[in-house]
Amino acid sequence: MTSSSSSGQKRGFIWHNGKIKPWEDATVHVSAHALHYGSSVFEGERVYKTHKGPAFFRLHAHTHRLFDSARIYEIDIDYTEEEINAACCQIVRANNMESAYVRPIIFRGAGSLGVIPKGETTVDIAILALDWGAYLGDAIHKGADVCVSSWNRVAPNTFPSWAKAGGNYLSSQLIALEAKRNGYDEGIALGHNGLLSEGAGENLFLVQNGILRTPPVSSSILAGITRDSVITLAKNMNIPVEEKELPREALYLSDEVFMVGTAAEITPVRSVDRKPVGKECPGPITKALQKAFFGIFDGSTADQWNWLTPLDTYAK
Ligand SMILES: Cc1ncc(COP(=O)(O)O)c(C=O)c1O
Repeated sequence: MTSSSSSGQKRGFIWHNGKIKPWEDATVHVSAHALHYGSSVFEGERVYKTHKGPAFFRLHAHTHRLFDSARIYEIDIDYTEEEINAACCQIVRANNMESAYVRPIIFRGAGSLGVIPKGETTVDIAILALDWGAYLGDAIHKGADVCVSSWNRVAPNTFPSWAKAGGNYLSSQLIALEAKRNGYDEGIALGHNGLLSEGAGENLFLVQNGILRTPPVSSSILAGITRDSVITLAKNMNIPVEEKELPREALYLSDEVFMVGTAAEITPVRSVDRKPVGKECPGPITKALQKAFFGIFDGSTADQWNWLTPLDTYAK
């Protein structure tokens, strides 16, 4: 994925098939099935420096989605969700980090080169902990300039959008590369039916007349965990929320637009296809939701949903 602030880090430790290894020793053979056929599933998670110490945001939800993604592709995992939760905490501690972007990945490894993985094809797991700042740089404060991509999102019953699979990110790469090439921060894709879907690596929210709207999970989107958190926070703040199909022109008529994701957090959109969005950026509802979201990490928003998992939740 393209990003001005993506991590170029090549140091520290990586959890690899149950062992903690130095960065340079966590390698994969060129015959790995995932390299040839895209058969990996992964997560992107954040650890924040919080009032409770370093803590994962929604670790259990991420690990659960990781296992669901593997289930869709019939990838058997030799670990329990709790063991992966513990391993995620362990690798952040091993790297001595107070905040991090954590990337667990499960993939079909070396073995036969047949498309249908044979018994000897391994299932490998790695967990990386990276320094990764705001995904879209200072757009988180000043707003992103985005375009509607000429690429559509995957159609239903082609690639499952609910699986966070490596192969799906070929679509994201095309959308993001085109957007960058044309001078935008990010691209938004329409679905196969011409209705709004999502950004290359973010879910989408629109505000019109005080109502918060977002495409439903049937709109070829990744059912994002940040999206779910924003819906929960908005309902808690008595902001009306609608999950409904939306046409492209809704982007041009909205008072506010913002994109959400683990990497992008809550990033306001200040223009779509060079047309300015609303009167101010970020708008008042975007600002209120940013405040509530980041408030989880300094304690100014009560974590009534138990979204934080401090690193020391799991024994060393
Ligand atoms: C295509 C896509 N949509 C949406 C999201 C947001 O998902 P989440 O909030 O679970 O990180 C992501 C980020 O991982 C993504 O890659």
